[in-house]
Amino acid sequence: MTPSDLAATHRLAFANDRPWSAVEFSDLLAQRGVILCGTADSFILGRVTFDEAEVLTLATTPDHRRRGLARTALTEFHDRAKRAGAQTMFLEVAADNAPAIALYLACGFATVGRRRAYYARGDAPAADALIMRRDLSEPT
Ligand SMILES: CC(C)(COP(=O)(O)OP(=O)(O)OC[C@H]1O[C@@H](n2cnc3c(N)ncnc32)[C@H](O)[C@@H]1OP(=O)(O)O)[C@@H](O)C(=O)NCCC(=O)NCCS
Repeated sequence: MTPSDLAATHRLAFANDRPWSAVEFSDLLAQRGVILCGTADSFILGRVTFDEAEVLTLATTPDHRRRGLARTALTEFHDRAKRAGAQTMFLEVAADNAPAIALYLACGFATVGRRRAYYARGDAPAADALIMRRDLSEPT
């Protein structure tokens, strides 16, 4: 998986948001604690800092969805983050992103916070961000 592969998948997955460039992915991959899991069709980029893991982004191309690929990538990140010393995992998701929220709930995350009007939605009202958390001591 090259930074260009990641940027291409991210652009397809986040059709209505600003895509991350290959340079941005390259810079992130060079940072300490950053972990890449999955495949070019469905990947997760996360980071471990001391005992906390965070999901930076997660994307599956539209024509590879509902095949369990994101769940598999998330499980791989869970296992690698745990081996790197993380005890909890956090992520942030738009409150109007039903597919992602369904995935995270299915993977054991619970909502622990909310940032009001966090994601701009053009002419529509901004969407809240949900903060979700999972205890990594529990099995996947
Ligand atoms: C969210 C996303 C990563 C899910 O990827 P995926 O590879 O299709 O997910 P999976 O096939 O692994 O789904 C696993 C489970 O998550 C839930 N889920 C995933 N997509 C869903 C949907 N559209 N509706 C309802 N539940 C869904 C289901 O429980 C599913 O299990 P099931 O298929 O057995 O019912 C994908 O839709 C995507 O890339 N969306 C755009 C980018 C994005 O929102 N990223 C997350 C930002 S926080």
